[in-house]
Amino acid sequence: SSYQVIILAAGQGKRMKAGVNKQFLSINGKPLLIHTIEAFMQDDSCEQRIVVINPDERTQIESLLERFGYSSLITLIDGGQERQDSVYAGLQAVDGDSIVLIHDGARPFVTKESIRKLVEEAGEHGAALLAVPVTDTIKQYQAGSLKTLKRDELFAAQTPQAFRYGLIMAAHEHAKDEQYLGTDDASLVERLGENVEVVQGSYDNIKLTTPEDIEKAETIIHKRSAALEA
Ligand code: CTP
Ligand code: MG
Repeated sequence: SSYQVIILAAGQGKRMKAGVNKQFLSINGKPLLIHTIEAFMQDDSCEQRIVVINPDERTQIESLLERFGYSSLITLIDGGQERQDSVYAGLQAVDGDSIVLIHDGARPFVTKESIRKLVEEAGEHGAALLAVPVTDTIKQYQAGSLKTLKRDELFAAQTPQAFRYGLIMAAHEHAKDEQYLGTDDASLVERLGENVEVVQGSYDNIKLTTPEDIEKAETIIHKRSAALEA
């Protein structure tokens, strides 16, 4: 079934320490943002691709899309200060009632199969996210005391996260009213008291955050092309 996707690229990439927005960094010769956009190309179910950008980078991104031949396939929207502001701006550009995927521009390795499962779950239940079980033991340190969380109950949330349009709009409006700033969109839906389904993701679906992640990304690309050739 069909969906629209919001790809977030309006951040600064401070932790990447590259001096530019990490979306422009070259991974195996291609800008990170282009890798991510391509995960949603050649997919007949994808009805609109909204890329949320920093207005100061619009010209640069327009020429990048031109160079790769994607200009006519992308809607560019100006983002805001916080990730949540950028999502909200992107939501304004969604056409009608639909399943909306919200995805980090810095997460280039999501597969078509994961997208398909996610869209199906969100269509059935209203909200779904990709996540993987944590492999480390997670400790909570609060007010001078350390606790060990139950590992088998813990998941690392990824994107895309998928929602019925009405639900994610209501969740964002509610968060705005309460001045709640979340680190992902599912958390806003959870605050409405609605369930979010978990779809098993892949450990390869990394977000490029720090300089070490560039090497990890190139390793994943090589692994994949080797698998295709085998
Ligand atoms: N993002 C956005 N608008 C913002 C902040 C973040 O669209 N105001 C996007 C980023 O471009 C990124 C995604 O949200 O693709 C996930 O955020 P993160 O990994 O934190 O990226 P940055 O905010 O760019 O990096 P940093 O936090 O290190 O500055
Ligand atoms: Mg950030």
